[in-house]
Amino acid sequence: MILLDGNKLSTIIRKEISDRVRDFCKTDTRPPHLAAILIGDNPASQSYVKNKIKACEEVGYASTLIKKPLHTTESELLDIVQRLNENKEIDGYIVQLPLPRHIDEMKINLAIDPSKDVDGFHPNNFGRMALGITAYHPATPAGIMMMFDRYQISTEGKHCVVLGRSNIVGTPISLLMSKKTKPGNATVTIAHSRTENLKEICLSADIIIAALGIPFFVKADMVKPNAVIIDVGINKIEDASNPRGYRLVGDVDFEQVKNKVSAITPVPGGVGPMTITALIENTWKAYSKIYNNN
Ligand code: GUN
Repeated sequence: MILLDGNKLSTIIRKEISDRVRDFCKTDTRPPHLAAILIGDNPASQSYVKNKIKACEEVGYASTLIKKPLHTTESELLDIVQRLNENKEIDGYIVQLPLPRHIDEMKINLAIDPSKDVDGFHPNNFGRMALGITAYHPATPAGIMMMFDRYQISTEGKHCVVLGRSNIVGTPISLLMSKKTKPGNATVTIAHSRTENLKEICLSADIIIAALGIPFFVKADMVKPNAVIIDVGINKIEDASNPRGYRLVGDVDFEQVKNKVSAITPVPGGVGPMTITALIENTWKAYSKIYNNN
């Protein structure tokens, strides 16, 4: 069994990016600059954003964190988005999700300048991705594709079952895996909460990408021997033996499944760091204006 180590792989890729930054910014050129907007005090969001900012420091990017209270209004957030769109010093930015319920997520998304949309959530980028033309790809799917690429996991002609159909993970990874690309070229099934015969479908999968947000959902009896398992879930479960009182687990019952499969991502330390690495790579693209030249 190969452990798909997102921490180790991220260290390698981030080193490549930081070398690129150092070479490119030898003269007076300013480094790439990523901004993040965080509304409210959701602990998971705070932790994700903190790690994104830390990754910027690691590769030599500038970063700006804009933290606003939970009661921030939609129009206040739209003003911040507008200012970031106009700020020539910022190459790309993200609005950390989820947003408080009184803010319309899609309205904010539509206000982001697509050329700075390093999360790839704007319909311009999402549509371009669906058409297979240059675009920012959402970071989690992009990180998973990097993992297949760098670990040289063959996806061509394989049956890939994606569990979950969210806009952030399930839907975009299904698109990317089905494209005539390498990695890609897979036969994709999207399964979700209304799917019938889920166990049988999973048993026919060469690759399972689990992104449903239910701890330990994928059990050993749902997995074909030698399948490849990508676990996107980050779930908090109570754990009295842990000083924090909880621990993080995936959507896959790792201990049950690990001995049956050919490769699997751990949680934490699998897809999570790759998501951030993909965001850092997208920011490089925004900086070097590759997007605008295609
Ligand atoms: N919340 C969970 N995942 C993501 C992500 O990839 N980007 C943003 N902006 N928010 C998220």
